[in-house]
Amino acid sequence: MADLHWYPGHMTRATREMKEDIKLTDMVIEIIDARIPVSSRNPDIDSMAQNKSRVVVLNKEDFADPKATEEWISYFEEKGFIAAAMNAKTGNGMKAVKDAIARASAAKIERDRKRGILNRPVRAMICGIPNVGKSTFINAFAGRAVAKTGNKPGVTRGKQWIRLNKQVELLDTPGILWPKFDDKLTALHLAFIGSFKDEIVEKVEVVTELKEEMDKSYPGILEKYYGLEGENTEISSFLTALANKRGFLLKGGEPDITKAASLVLDDMKNGRTGRITLEKVNDGKFFK
Ligand code: G4P
Repeated sequence: MADLHWYPGHMTRATREMKEDIKLTDMVIEIIDARIPVSSRNPDIDSMAQNKSRVVVLNKEDFADPKATEEWISYFEEKGFIAAAMNAKTGNGMKAVKDAIARASAAKIERDRKRGILNRPVRAMICGIPNVGKSTFINAFAGRAVAKTGNKPGVTRGKQWIRLNKQVELLDTPGILWPKFDDKLTALHLAFIGSFKDEIVEKVEVVTELKEEMDKSYPGILEKYYGLEGENTEISSFLTALANKRGFLLKGGEPDITKAASLVLDDMKNGRTGRITLEKVNDGKFFK
């Protein structure tokens, strides 16, 4: 598979900033992709956010298998997180997330109350790997107020807190984690949902793996979506048939299978091929 390096300098800076920001907060709200709840988490956050209230938001739930999402919510709750699913783009699920945040705040509010501190807001921050929907989430949550603050010239730079309600304030800039892919499956799953820049992904190779996985977990889903049922769907025939069907031809009239592979990846990334969860709770292979 192609080189999948991220800039170490950029990573180090982001991590340092995040560690500083975490110190200012009581609660860490981790955004993950509901299609790959394991691979879209960086487990290092667990040590970075020790002693903080922890919320996990399974975002892009509109792309994921609803039953699998329910199972993941129970899984995270059993592990001591407070979890909820949502679609940050439409705001669907916002109530469940707000309830989750309220539950996570309750302990801190109670602790403050016992110490005689009243009405001190709980401070929270968002974190997650790129493209899971952190900015969309902040916008959905805080509405226009955030965009306004960011766009206004002369706004003092520095930490900005967005008041969500009487109890909770949210840091306006999310903490960025990088994906941790020390095994091939994690890297592939990140590639399937479009986590990597296009240039660094060998598309035909990735789609070959994707098709193999779909054949096992969601047999026929791609054939159905592309209207290729009943054809030979071994990968090279599948990509050839898809290229022909869509008129993706190279100069000499040969089918352009790379373009067909790009289409499949773009459709996957945008959830067009159907609701798919690539990592299931009961799929022990994700846990060492
Ligand atoms: P980030 O800050 O974590 O890097 O992610 P960001 O909010 O930029 O979201 C990445 C992409 O995912 C955006 O799409 C965003 O609209 C989309 N997105 C975020 N949350 C959800 C969700 O729950 N469901 C769906 N379907 N999409 C979501 P984009 O392609 O960059 O832009 P656009 O499609 O919004 O124009």
